Amino acid sequence: MSLSAPIFDRKNPYPAKIKERYSLCHPSSPKNTYHLVLDLKDSGLTYQVGDSVAIFPQHDPLLVNHTLDALRASGDELIIDKRTQLTLSLRTFLQTKAAITTVSRKLFTETAKKHPDPAKAATLTALLDNAPLLKEYLEKTDLGTFLKEHAEVKWESQDLCDHLMPLLPRFYSISSSMKAVGEEMHLTVAIPAYTDPFQRALGVCTHYLCHLAIVGETNIPLYIQPHHGFTLPENPASPVIMVGPGTGIAPFRAFMQEREMLKAPGKNWLFFGEWNRSHHFFYEDYWRELENSGKLRINAAFSRDQEHKVYVQHHLEAHGAEIFNWIESGASFFVCGDAHKMAKDVESTLLSIFRLHGNFSEIEAEKYLKALRVSKRYLRDVY
Ligand SMILES: Cc1cc2nc3c(=O)[nH]c(=O)nc-3n(C[C@H](O)[C@H](O)[C@H](O)COP(=O)(O)OP(=O)(O)OC[C@H]3O[C@@H](n4cnc5c(N)ncnc54)[C@H](O)[C@@H]3O)c2cc1C
Ligand SMILES: NC(=O)c1ccc[n+]([C@@H]2O[C@H](COP(=O)([O-])OP(=O)(O)OC[C@H]3O[C@@H](n4cnc5c(N)ncnc54)[C@H](OP(=O)(O)O)[C@@H]3O)[C@@H](O)[C@H]2O)c1
Repeated sequence: MSLSAPIFDRKNPYPAKIKERYSLCHPSSPKNTYHLVLDLKDSGLTYQVGDSVAIFPQHDPLLVNHTLDALRASGDELIIDKRTQLTLSLRTFLQTKAAITTVSRKLFTETAKKHPDPAKAATLTALLDNAPLLKEYLEKTDLGTFLKEHAEVKWESQDLCDHLMPLLPRFYSISSSMKAVGEEMHLTVAIPAYTDPFQRALGVCTHYLCHLAIVGETNIPLYIQPHHGFTLPENPASPVIMVGPGTGIAPFRAFMQEREMLKAPGKNWLFFGEWNRSHHFFYEDYWRELENSGKLRINAAFSRDQEHKVYVQHHLEAHGAEIFNWIESGASFFVCGDAHKMAKDVESTLLSIFRLHGNFSEIEAEKYLKALRVSKRYLRDVY
């Protein structure tokens, strides 16, 4: 790297503009997943397939106004951000620096202590003793609503700001290869299906990227989060099996772009899953093109096209013998997407494939999986 190459990181993010943004879902879909193209032209910023990007979002101005209203503040008040010591207007601080879709534990505890209303103070104190309920309450209540409910507790702007958690960056798997798209970065971003009058139940960053940010205008601060081994095998002839339902598909689009550009001879097998074939077959044309030219094998599991659920692991199971043969012949096995249920279920399906088709005991199957993990041939990027 030359001495003058810019270093963009958490402290010095690169302000990228959105070049293009469109939905990957049918217009009548009740949920939406977007394709975003970010412009990196002349930034000097580079990434590898398998990397993620960290994005610093901003809050919806409607929610900021709701919070300022609760504080009976104009937003022009000046405060010092205790983390950077910079002086900012209260409005800027709430919009860009503080988590306001949730309530911090510190603010909640202090409100309970300072409360002049004994009944309300007792309710808050009782919740402090119930960890699971408290967690749910803090995550689901926005700051403005909390302040309105406890308007008897008076806050100086600076004191309130000191009690808030920082607005953290969100991570997204990069769904492009620079070898194919040049100075661009593609993302695949899912927004949750529900909302409320203040857009509170919308995710902060997804709402910002997919609705609030203006294409070609808004600067999106970002930096690259390098992969920790979740990338294509060094040998371009090694086969890969990729399991990516929903937004889990993102890094595999990047993998396939890279393999095409490198003319990699290795076989590729993709397992994708979504709700409905007609509404949610993300990047279908690209997969079909690859399939037709013999570069990709694809299995798609549409969970809501029939009465019973069909998931990626059901397709893996149905092709268990072949999956085992691919792994025996050196294939790497990648999983990306939901960590809570999908990744666990895929792992237990993989273990049962090893037991059945490798004739392994439970312990032998576990050892086989562990060996794959150690040799970096079982790789997961789950969230
Ligand atoms: C390594 C990595 C890679 C990732 N890659 C991708 C990717 O490629 N694509 C992708 O879409 N995501 C990806 N994610 C997830 C992403 O980082 C975010 O977590 C996700 O976009 C939600 O962020 P948010 O700011 O929009 O939601 P947040 O504001 O953080 O909210 C989180 C969830 O809580 C819900 N919620 C918020 N308020 C309420 C409320 N009042 N009541 C009920 N529910 C509420 C939101 O709807 C949302 O579902 C990745 C995560 C990691 C760690
Ligand atoms: N908070 C939550 O409860 C919750 C739930 C899901 C996802 N998420 C998060 O929301 C974000 C976006 O999700 P996404 O749009 O990428 O897709 P997703 O919600 O993960 O869904 C993609 C596909 O996976 C299916 N699926 C559900 N459970 C599964 C399982 N156990 N095994 C295999 N497949 C399963 C879904 O089917 P069905 O939906 O028809 O069952 C759907 O067809 C991710 O960050 C994810 O972690 C959160």
